[in-house]
Amino acid sequence: MSAYGISSYPDVPAIEARIRNLTGSPIRTLTAEQLAAYHEWYEKHTPTSKQAAAEANEYIPGGVQHNLALNDPWALSITRAEGAYLHDADGNRYIDFLQAGGPTVLGSNHEAVRAAVLELLEHCGPVTGMLHPSETALAKLIHDFMPAVHKFRMLGSGTEAVMAAIRVARAHTGKQHIIKVGGAYHGWSDQVVFGLRIPGSGPLEAAGIPAPAYSGTSETAPGDLEALRARLTVNAENGGTAAVLLEPVGPESGTHPAPHDFNAAVRELCDEFGTLLVFDEVVTGFRLGMGGAQGYYGVAPDLTVFGKCVAGGYPAAGGVGGREEVMAAFAGGLTAAGQRALTGGTLAANPLSCTAGYHTLLEMDRLDAPAKAGAAGDRLRAGLEGLIAKYELPYVTYNFGSIVHLHTSGVLHLRLDDPEFFDKLTPRLKMLGHMSLAYAAEGVITLAGSRIYTSMADTDEVIDDALAAFERVFAQIPA
Ligand SMILES: Cc1ncc(COP(=O)(O)O)c(C=O)c1O
Repeated sequence: MSAYGISSYPDVPAIEARIRNLTGSPIRTLTAEQLAAYHEWYEKHTPTSKQAAAEANEYIPGGVQHNLALNDPWALSITRAEGAYLHDADGNRYIDFLQAGGPTVLGSNHEAVRAAVLELLEHCGPVTGMLHPSETALAKLIHDFMPAVHKFRMLGSGTEAVMAAIRVARAHTGKQHIIKVGGAYHGWSDQVVFGLRIPGSGPLEAAGIPAPAYSGTSETAPGDLEALRARLTVNAENGGTAAVLLEPVGPESGTHPAPHDFNAAVRELCDEFGTLLVFDEVVTGFRLGMGGAQGYYGVAPDLTVFGKCVAGGYPAAGGVGGREEVMAAFAGGLTAAGQRALTGGTLAANPLSCTAGYHTLLEMDRLDAPAKAGAAGDRLRAGLEGLIAKYELPYVTYNFGSIVHLHTSGVLHLRLDDPEFFDKLTPRLKMLGHMSLAYAAEGVITLAGSRIYTSMADTDEVIDDALAAFERVFAQIPA
């Protein structure tokens, strides 16, 4: 199996100290004049996008379909994606550090995967509703890479896979409660839109969700094992905990980074309380390495949630896998008898998604993609660290291989017990948007201005170009 993509683990206590300094310091952002100059750049260079965005606003709520999409001053209309680059309708080229939100560790629209998909379309079409060989091939390959995943149920998205994992955990254990780590995003289903993005925020983002839908969900602070034990103890007297659900690198791809030994300690707690451990590997699954975060940390979860890479950037990317006895509750087919955790979907496990996923994973392993993408992340993080020091900025950067964090406003790290929380929230959120639009105008697309996914396509030259773009932004920030 190819190597893991993390060359050295982030120093979590040092990062936390730097983040506390960031959120405790005044914001260091672009001036109104500098922003006006960037707006002028958009006016001059992206007129087709401007027009397309105006039309999108007529028919699409908010004018964009993704929650974290760049839409200030308007959404860029991207018409071509290739390797490390995105191209917009006006002919501008951008370095692509969004990578569609993470699934394309090989780089966008990788040729070998495309060829396998085209061949499938030629001979079978995208969907039949019957068993296709690619479904078994993908499930077997995942098992080969992740031995803890004995069986695998392919679904349509990470959101669906989390729903299924929770359902099967309850069906298997007969217990009711779910515990997540505060601040984590596990998709948008009713039970997990709780404690979203900012730890401790509970139902703040739960508009449209009746309270009973998430009454079985609780959150504990990132990295806080004592709080987790306390919650497990309370739950044990009240129906028990079916599952602890977490992202192994920490919430939001490690925006709140997990200490290296956290996962093993949670594993022990879960065993002590008869609770299933569910790893959400929607991002880390294959990005950190073909064995996922579970292979990297050497901790076997009972269930693993997949998304993104599992269909290699093609649609319908989700699945849940795990221990034989737990997965048995997902029995399928007309003859399945008895109580089962119902899942499904017309397009779930369609030949197109499974073929794309299977060939993506094979290619990633063959080409050592997680390690190459990780090395690109290391180079970028080291360069960003240098720029932050050079311009004496309070910004914080660190990486888990190809997952690079760049916190400039600290908005995601504001604490609800900070008496200035609401005063800080709006300007820092705005700043994140401003940095994001400045990076894009300088030729780099990020995930909402604070997260970067590198890919195998990011050569040293690409990373150095990106660093030059970041420097053009940082150099302007007034003292
Ligand atoms: C950690 C994590 N879990 C779950 C999801 C939801 O996956 P999907 O967008 O496929 O529904 C995401 C999406 O970004 C994610 O990052």
